[in-house]
Amino acid sequence: MSSFKKSLALAWLLHAQFSSAYRWPSPQYDALETFLYEGQRGDGSNLASLVHPCRKRTGTMASIAAEWLRFAFHDMATHNVDDGSGGMDGSLVYELGRSENFGLGFNQTLTDFETFPNKYVSRADIFALGAVFAVATCGGPIVPYRGGRVDAWTAGISGTPEPQNTLDTHKEMFRKQGFSSTEMIALTACGHTIGGVRDADFPMLVSASTTPGQPHIVDFDSTTQFDNKIATEYLAGNTQNVLVNTPNTTMASDLRVFMSDGNQTMRSLSDPNTFMSQCQSLLERMFNTVPHGVSLTDEITLIPAKVWGVQLTVEKDQLVFKANLRLTQPTDSKLNMNRTVTMFWCDKYGDSANCRGSTKSAPSAKVVQDDPNGSPIIARMGIYFVHYNFVVPIQGSESISKFWFEVDEHNGTSTTVHNNEGDNYPVAQDQIIFVPTMSTALFRSNGSYTKTYTNRNGEAFTKVYNLTVAVRQGSNPSRVYASAFDNAIHDFPYALNTTMDFSRNSSISSIGGYDFYSGSLEDIGFQTTLDLHVDVDGTTYSEDFVPTSFLDNTPYIEPSTVNNDAHPVSSSRVTSALSAPFVAGSTLIGLLLMSVPLHLV
Ligand code: HEM
Ligand SMILES: *[C@@H]1O[C@H](CO)[C@@H](O)[C@H](O)[C@H]1NC(C)=O
Ligand SMILES: *[C@@H]1O[C@H](CO)[C@@H](O)[C@H](O)[C@H]1NC(C)=O
Ligand SMILES: *[C@@H]1O[C@H](CO)[C@@H](O)[C@H](O)[C@H]1NC(C)=O
Ligand SMILES: *[C@@H]1O[C@H](CO)[C@@H](O)[C@H](O)[C@H]1NC(C)=O
Ligand SMILES: *[C@@H]1O[C@H](CO)[C@@H](O)[C@H](O)[C@H]1NC(C)=O
Ligand SMILES: *[C@@H]1O[C@H](CO)[C@@H](O)[C@H](O)[C@H]1NC(C)=O
Ligand SMILES: *[C@@H]1O[C@H](CO)[C@@H](O)[C@H](O)[C@H]1NC(C)=O
Ligand SMILES: *[C@@H]1O[C@H](CO)[C@@H](O)[C@H](O)[C@H]1NC(C)=O
Ligand SMILES: *[C@@H]1O[C@H](CO)[C@@H](O)[C@H](O)[C@H]1NC(C)=O
Repeated sequence: MSSFKKSLALAWLLHAQFSSAYRWPSPQYDALETFLYEGQRGDGSNLASLVHPCRKRTGTMASIAAEWLRFAFHDMATHNVDDGSGGMDGSLVYELGRSENFGLGFNQTLTDFETFPNKYVSRADIFALGAVFAVATCGGPIVPYRGGRVDAWTAGISGTPEPQNTLDTHKEMFRKQGFSSTEMIALTACGHTIGGVRDADFPMLVSASTTPGQPHIVDFDSTTQFDNKIATEYLAGNTQNVLVNTPNTTMASDLRVFMSDGNQTMRSLSDPNTFMSQCQSLLERMFNTVPHGVSLTDEITLIPAKVWGVQLTVEKDQLVFKANLRLTQPTDSKLNMNRTVTMFWCDKYGDSANCRGSTKSAPSAKVVQDDPNGSPIIARMGIYFVHYNFVVPIQGSESISKFWFEVDEHNGTSTTVHNNEGDNYPVAQDQIIFVPTMSTALFRSNGSYTKTYTNRNGEAFTKVYNLTVAVRQGSNPSRVYASAFDNAIHDFPYALNTTMDFSRNSSISSIGGYDFYSGSLEDIGFQTTLDLHVDVDGTTYSEDFVPTSFLDNTPYIEPSTVNNDAHPVSSSRVTSALSAPFVAGSTLIGLLLMSVPLHLV
């Protein structure tokens, strides 16, 4: 099937655009990219693996991909082009009591998604991402993905089609959602290529289940894959789609919709390439249907050499700097174990500030290879990720101002420099830093809590955080505080968005030129992140989007030995590789392209 090659070609085109725009740090882009390509949130909890590879749900044996795609459609369906309201805004979580949204699949999908949103990835972004995974993992097109959706905190209008509605009602509903009558036909076919109709939800269409606890689901076509069988079987007159061949014509909505233009659109979808490209563009529009005034991010494309998890912190009584470089590896080739990856950095203070006197460097402390099935998107691209973890000791009197990386394959090719398109990776501030290893989180569970899909009774637990930060000595801060945020709360009743203060904790003696401050916080959600702030002489220094997921469970990695290059790094060494990341990334994707014959439809 050519959609695979197409998506590579697309990746190639988008990569070229992306390279000129992206600079680290771009926390929203970085968080969205980690979800799309690694399938997971920052702490490694994987969203994609719930659905990939084209999984069925334990218990109900329903297609999880189908449930997730339908979930996105029903969230979008509240859009009204006439006044610009509604769309993909996460409002569906408040609309599950409506008959148009009836079904256990919706409630279970809500539970699948509820631990994943954060300050930079909204609930609605997660719903759209889930649908992108669902389509890709079952063999459908890779739908281009953007973030930036803004969550609603109340229900939206009704407007999701039900089978007993007339054709004119359906046309009007899709018009309100922003789709023409022809697009209604194609979009419905793109949705109904996976999943089916359940006995519990439509007993008049599907006979009762004979397996206790497992619904009887009649699929719309003969495969569980995202393919054009929905069209070809319909045209051949041998479809099993109950919304086509039910004897009660009132309920035969797919038949009415599919033949509403004399079967012309369905005939065009019987060409597999047309089906894939139509579904790709219509689903992209569906996922990007948002309320007026919401602006989505750029398209999220692969960052070929990605820097993440950057922090100054204190571990085992030592000030350390931690950073990670993520490189891509083609799945069908062996990782070069001779490769060395070196981090270089400049001091912030003293004789060698900004690498005036000398440059420091250290090899990676650990190499971690990811699962190629971390996300259906990279699985389809034929790549996986290799992470080079760095931990280096830092003198408080020198600190760190910026860093970059050099990759040496030791096989005759020249080294590759990753330096943020020539800018190097900046360490924006060192006034306030988080100290996970001196912070704790305790779950205080609620013994009387029972969780069912139909009934919510209070909260299962409260997370009690004791948090410690470090502030540079001598700065004499007027206030040390944090903004705490969490929108991953069971059933999405509200988002935690609060401020907490830290006070000097003199039971911890100073380390590396830093004093310690502690404070506590309570949260009933799953994804607390902190923006740390310190006010010094009228200036506020901030550390954005600090996760609280590891804390005292942070795996310890021994810091590497530091090399001190007494010869000042020539500025040419830093700047001559100005376009190196671009070249490196392009070469990689270029190789991937060459390995399959390019065949654009
Ligand atoms: C006239 C328009 C539509 C009508 C009347 C309609 C109706 C239905 C009905 C009655 C079901 C069975 C639900 C159940 O048994 O609980 C269903 C399932 C489904 N619909 Fe639609 N639908 C329409 C359009 C769409 C669109 C545009 C999409 C997405 C692009 C979509 C995606 C799905 C999916 C994926 C399922 C399977 C869910 C599962 O197996 O869990 N539908 N639809
Ligand atoms: C799903 O959740 C909604 C809202 O809480 C509830 O009204 C409905 O009964 C639930 N459906 C099922 C099948 O549990
Ligand atoms: C056909 O379905 C409609 C809508 O569910 C229902 O009102 C009607 O009674 C059904 N007709 C027959 C003959 O079963
Ligand atoms: C459209 O296709 C359906 C299903 O094969 C068939 O029943 C119907 O007669 C066709 N209608 C036209 C106008 O071709
Ligand atoms: C050196 O290794 C890299 C990465 O493994 C590879 O892309 C490159 O082609 C190799 N060069 C030679 C000359 O073997
Ligand atoms: C790694 O280095 C060893 C020793 O120099 C050499 O024999 C081997 O071929 C190298 N492997 C690769 C993949 O370049
Ligand atoms: C614990 O659960 C009970 C009943 O389920 C509920 O009333 C109460 O509010 C919950 N407590 C907390 C702290 O969530
Ligand atoms: C958290 O801090 C409070 C106040 O200092 C203390 O009473 C409590 O024991 C601490 N809890 C944990 C788990 O460290
Ligand atoms: C949190 O609340 C502040 C102040 O009300 C607001 O400016 C900010 O946008 C909120 N943050 C989020 C992520 O909603
Ligand atoms: C101060 O830090 C110690 C050691 O981490 C901790 O046990 C204590 O709870 C902290 N004090 C406060 C007031 O949080």
